[in-house]
Amino acid sequence: MSAARFANPVFVALDTPDLARALAVAHAVKPHVGGLKVGLEFISALGPDAVRRIVEVGLPVFADTKFHDIPNTVAGAARAVAMLGVAMFNVHASGGEAMMRGAAEAITDVHPRPLLIAVTVLTSLDDAALAAVGQRGSSAEQVERLAALAQAGGLDGVVCSAHEIALVRKVCGPDFLTVVPGIRPSGSAPGDQRRVMTPSEACTAGADILVVGRPITAAADPAKAAQSIAQELSRTRP
Ligand code: C5P
Repeated sequence: MSAARFANPVFVALDTPDLARALAVAHAVKPHVGGLKVGLEFISALGPDAVRRIVEVGLPVFADTKFHDIPNTVAGAARAVAMLGVAMFNVHASGGEAMMRGAAEAITDVHPRPLLIAVTVLTSLDDAALAAVGQRGSSAEQVERLAALAQAGGLDGVVCSAHEIALVRKVCGPDFLTVVPGIRPSGSAPGDQRRVMTPSEACTAGADILVVGRPITAAADPAKAAQSIAQELSRTRP
């Protein structure tokens, strides 16, 4: 899969515990983005009915569930989230191949079947942070290892930083999806993200989906911020 498969690759991260705020941002940015993302903050505060409300906005929804547990538990959770009508959700690749395979097998008869993606290394972690949790080697080596494991487990792609897209392509081929957070338009604050790139740099590097949160949601005018990213991408994409 390449970026050209998505007319607009930007998925907006609706990281808020406030459903009214999430719906307001979703409707405001709808003309300028390709999808919406709900993550742990939203899902924990508001639950599955709120996820359905975001699905009803009418754009593909990425449930950033980041499941990481024993295979049986993750399989059940995967099936439950797949039934909400989301287009995509994810698990942590570090949960292991059996866990990923269990999730993939649990959703085979869900129609339409959502894409199942594995988180490799969080974009907030740098090599020093990885060393502190006992992981030897660079973040790139860990992404490479986990992407290959995710593909072996039957997943559709990975979440990685823009800096590792080429590596994932080399190891997993052109059809394996790359979903890329840590996107920062030039001049915007990195916040807690460490391995960042601009939207057009990430697309040029081959990202299929760009996850953008605070640069849009914390802007004074989220619709304008989303539009300006869409315009930047239309200048750089084929
Ligand atoms: O606000 P910002 O653009 O940093 O938001 C990035 C979003 O992507 C957040 O919702 C975060 O949870 C998510 N994410 C991430 N790194 C990953 C996977 C998901 O930042 N590896």
